[in-house]
This record gives sequence, C-alpha cells and structure tokens, in this order.
Amino acid sequence: MFEAKKFVENSMKDIQKIVGKSRVISACSGGVDSTVTTVLVHKAVGDKLVAVFIDDGLRREGEPEFVVKTLKSLGIKTKFVDAKAEFFAVFKGKTDAEEKRKAFRDKFYKTLGKAAREEQIEFIAQGTIKADVIETVGGIKSQHNVLEQIGINPEIYGYKILEPLRELFKPDVRKVARELGLPKEISERMPFPGPALSLRVLGEVTPEKIALVRKATEIVEEETEKLGTFQNFAVLHNDKATGIKKGKRVYGNIVTVRIVDSQDAVTAKARQVPYEVLMRISERITGEIPSVVRCLYDITDKPPSTIEFE
Ligand code: XMP
Repeated sequence: MFEAKKFVENSMKDIQKIVGKSRVISACSGGVDSTVTTVLVHKAVGDKLVAVFIDDGLRREGEPEFVVKTLKSLGIKTKFVDAKAEFFAVFKGKTDAEEKRKAFRDKFYKTLGKAAREEQIEFIAQGTIKADVIETVGGIKSQHNVLEQIGINPEIYGYKILEPLRELFKPDVRKVARELGLPKEISERMPFPGPALSLRVLGEVTPEKIALVRKATEIVEEETEKLGTFQNFAVLHNDKATGIKKGKRVYGNIVTVRIVDSQDAVTAKARQVPYEVLMRISERITGEIPSVVRCLYDITDKPPSTIEFE
C-alpha cells in the first residue's frame, strides 16, 4: 500500500542529499506530475528552486496564465520563458510523430538548458513517472521527458536530472498532490502530454492548426467536464473531407474527439458517452470553427490504439 506521507518525507530527504548546496530549476507545465515535482522540490530546498514555465505556444486555452498564477500562489519563484516562435520554427516541415516528438524534446531541453545557465543552476527537476519510462523502454513511444533510457546523457544539455516521481504511477502522484495540500484543480487535473497540442495536430504543426485544435479542445472539455473521464480531447486530422457550409460545398477539416477511461494510461477504454453529448460537441465544433466540416468519435480502446493519436 502506497503511503503518500512517507513518500513525501523520504523523497524530501533524498532530494536534499542529492542537491546539496546546488540550485535547481523545475520545468513546470502545470500538469499534476510536474507541479507535484515542483512543490516537492520546493518543500525540500526552498528558495534554491526556480520553477520555469516555457510557453511553447502549444498549451491549452488559458493554461500559461493558470500555471504562473498557481506557482506564484504557492510562493514559488517562477521564470516565464516565451519560446513560441522557436518551437513553431522547429516543427516546420516535420510530419512524422516520432520526428515531431524528437524536435519538441530537443527544443525543450535546449530552452531549459539556457534558462538553467542564466540562473546558474546544476539540476533540472522534472515530473517523469513510471508509465513514461515503461512506454519508452518498451518501444511504444519515446515520451519526451525520458532521456537516459533512450541513451541520451542529459549532461549534454548542461545539467543533471532530478526525477522524484519516476517510480510512481498516476494515482499515487495524485495521492502525493493531496498530501501536499495542492488545490483540486491540480491534484485531479486531467493528464496532458508534455508536447501538448503538437501531438493533436496530425502532420505538420503550424500556429493556425494549433489555434484550431485549441478551440476544439476547449469545446470538448466544456461539454465533458461532468463525465469524470481520464482524458477528453480533440485531434485535428491532416487530410480533408467534403462538407457543406452556408449552402456551398467546402473541402474542410476533420476533427476527432477522444474520451477515455484509464487508471494509469497504460491501458484505456473509450467511454460510451451519451449520444446527446456527442451531438452537442459535433454541433459546436462544426458551428464554432468555420473550417471544420466533419466531427468523428474514436471508439477504440488502448490497445490496440494509444490514447494520443501521435
Ligand atoms: P499514449 O498516447 O501513449 O499516452 O497512450 C499515454 C499517456 O501519456 C501521455 N503522452 C505523453 N506524455 N510526453 C508526455 O509527457 C509524450 O510524448 C506523450 N505521449 C503521450 C498521454 O496524454 C497519456 O496520458
């Protein structure tokens, strides 16, 4: 039986021992894993920690503001890095899922490395959890935050890595969040991948496509808030389909909605969402986003699918 209180005590001692007199930067995206990591390290080393929020232009509506506000309210020193243009530049011309992940990972660690040098920091804390490591080692997909297991020495980016949650699965991370007294908005937050909306635009990632999928995601989240599912989101396809808008034929975009139940993201089941909810989502997505002519619902479990499309 996992004991969150014990975990917090032991992990604080470990962090203090590893870090010593050094300073630490924590890459915080606002998700439960990275926020718990940030708070845990802050509890262990206090002001020797600086949290960094990288605005990569791929976050959900209102997310950058939410994360910065949350960290400040917890009394954690926070650095905001606007790297939107740099991230979109690296996605140019990349259409393959793993290539996109690699591009994201490289830009992410270079940006963090730069912040670490500016802050004269030796350690980077990040919220890697057990499922990330398992899937990467198992060859399912290279989670962007798993480095050593795929043969990348993090020191090439100029720092050492601190991963206090790497032995935990998501439900235990949530227990630690509650133990640390984090608000429900964090402890019960829906999982969201590190490479964010870039995994939900199939094919090349552009600012316009991200804006589209951001809007569709907002609609899905609003309409499914009460379902209590593990993850609910929208995906923009790379191909087009014929439809009718304002009485005229248009060759427009396709959006798929994915709503799944899961415990730990290792397996998942597509939720049998009431038809009225799906209809409402479809009407809103095709009505509020002018270029979308078709809205689909994904009924596939994991396996054989994965949760994300990329
Ligand atoms: P999949 O798509 O592999 O997703 O079934 C399992 C869980 O991991 C998230 N995910 C990622 N998280 N970097 C991350 O930090 C990634 O590259 C990545 N790919 C998937 C996904 O949202 C789900 O919760």
